[in-house]
Amino acid sequence: MGSESDKAHGRWFRVFAEHYDTLAAAIEPRRTPNAAAALHRLFRRRGPVRRILDVACGTFSIDLGLVARGYSVVGRDLSAEMIRASRRNLREAGLRANVAVADMRSLRVGGAFDALLCLGTAFNYLASPTDVRRGLRTFRRHLRPGGLLVLDTTNFDPWINNPTNVRAEVDHRLPDGTRLAIFTLNDQDRARSLHVARFITAMQRGRNIDLAFDEAPLRIWTKQTLSDALRREGFRPIEWWGDLKIGAKYDRQRSPRLVVVAQRA
Ligand SMILES: C[S@@+](CC[C@H](N)C(=O)[O-])C[C@H]1O[C@@H](n2cnc3c(N)ncnc32)[C@H](O)[C@@H]1O
Repeated sequence: MGSESDKAHGRWFRVFAEHYDTLAAAIEPRRTPNAAAALHRLFRRRGPVRRILDVACGTFSIDLGLVARGYSVVGRDLSAEMIRASRRNLREAGLRANVAVADMRSLRVGGAFDALLCLGTAFNYLASPTDVRRGLRTFRRHLRPGGLLVLDTTNFDPWINNPTNVRAEVDHRLPDGTRLAIFTLNDQDRARSLHVARFITAMQRGRNIDLAFDEAPLRIWTKQTLSDALRREGFRPIEWWGDLKIGAKYDRQRSPRLVVVAQRA
């Protein structure tokens, strides 16, 4: 911890943790139920799976659907505010789970898990080769032999012809009337396999407008580079999906996501 990008990243989630689920639902309304259904189907096919560790659980919104189906899910996240939102979501759903702040590069949780999740671009946040290695070693240590690792990463291939772009990600009104707009100004450094995500966030309350700028380097993965990294650290890729939903085939040019299911050797 402690780099400038870690700080910027932490700041963004600190401000938006409270609104994260509302914003995510505005962008993709069925993401959470689709993801939980796809994971449940996977675990039934490739299980037995009972104990699950989500190493960047965010607001725990996908995990809620797994807890409700009877799995035991432990959640960890780097952001204290996201963990606070997780606890709120658990409380509101009337469910219980062990959630706490931790860094996926170094966390230690007792026991061996049947499955480990790192979803919603969180694995792309491990930008340097050292962080990737630390992360994958931590994941391996927490899985039983034959246990399943699910990485849900952004598929940057469709962006390759348009590496520098500006777009309005979100223009949204919160229930209290606050208006929130997020603009992204992306840039890619293919030689270093980095996608630099930059956000200008505008929050308007009454006549006041707060503007914030944040920047985070994300690692660009391809099927080949991800497969190589996994094999080097003792995982065997067994399935590739183009989204975190049932039946989403991976298409390099079109898929929004690059999802890999790998088995601990
Ligand atoms: C885009 S959110 C996705 C949250 C959730 N996995 C989902 O799919 O909805 C990315 C999450 O990764 C977390 N994160 C980033 N770096 C992390 C790290 N080194 N260790 C643990 N969590 C991390 C962030 O705090 C944030 O909650």
